[in-house]
Amino acid sequence: MRTLVIVPTYDERESLPGLLDRLRAEAPQVDVLVVDDASPDGTGDLAAARAADDERLHVLHRAGKGGLGAAYVAGFGWGLERGYDVLCEMDADGSHRPEELDRLLGRLVADDAPDLVIGSRWVPGGRVVNWPWYRSVLSRGGNTYVRGALGIGVRDATGGFRAFRAAALRAVDLRSVESHGYCFQVDMTWRVLQGGGAVAEVPITFVERAAGSSKMSRSIVVEALTKVTLWGVRHRWAQLRAASAGRGRRP
Ligand code: GDD
Ligand code: MN
Repeated sequence: MRTLVIVPTYDERESLPGLLDRLRAEAPQVDVLVVDDASPDGTGDLAAARAADDERLHVLHRAGKGGLGAAYVAGFGWGLERGYDVLCEMDADGSHRPEELDRLLGRLVADDAPDLVIGSRWVPGGRVVNWPWYRSVLSRGGNTYVRGALGIGVRDATGGFRAFRAAALRAVDLRSVESHGYCFQVDMTWRVLQGGGAVAEVPITFVERAAGSSKMSRSIVVEALTKVTLWGVRHRWAQLRAASAGRGRRP
């Protein structure tokens, strides 16, 4: 199976080289696509210089900071055009360990053949290392809210260490994905489930970055809360209408 690992970057000059080294060592069979949003710190140039010596490394340069969601949509489009069978997501800062990529890929080809495998912090065996307490609270609370609002069982719907089957991505209308920030992860999870796809989770150890800084912001949290609430209300409304239409038809 031809596998592409997509790594979005914004100011990751300090972290990216180490991640690329680890990926090469741990997963030599995969191709890597760095999607850089014109990082002011020159991450895009750094990636391009490395790609010149590595035929399995590619770089997609975007004009400016457009958010994690838009970067992934561009990366998925790039990979689908080139016929990859599996497309993965991975952060550039080392939080998603290349050493665990094989476990995600192994789960994707298990007998029950899920469409999406999420590396999960919040299933038994999953862990977070070095996160400040408020990030854990936000992530656990956010995921509890997502489960309730959407009525799904996924424990880490916001997690960004993932493997998709290409067919599952093709079934999603990627052009209509509007989530900018981290709610993109929930958006994609929800779209796969709504399309009848299966989502599996494997436990991972998420290690907080050692260098650089998080791009998490208040507006990213607000976007996620607003969008998830809207999707949930829309879904319940559709369920109610379907139920009442069903009752109306009965003699
Ligand atoms: N191209 C691009 N454009 N990349 C971006 C942008 C952007 O606008 N914003 C963030 N990134 C990249 C970062 O450079 C990094 O590689 C990755 O996206 C994740 O960003 P972080 O800022 O490190 O995220 P985090 O550690 O706070 O968030 C973690 O938790 C989120 C919520 O659970 C990550 O695991 C996310 O994937 C996850 O959704
Ligand atoms: Mn991070």
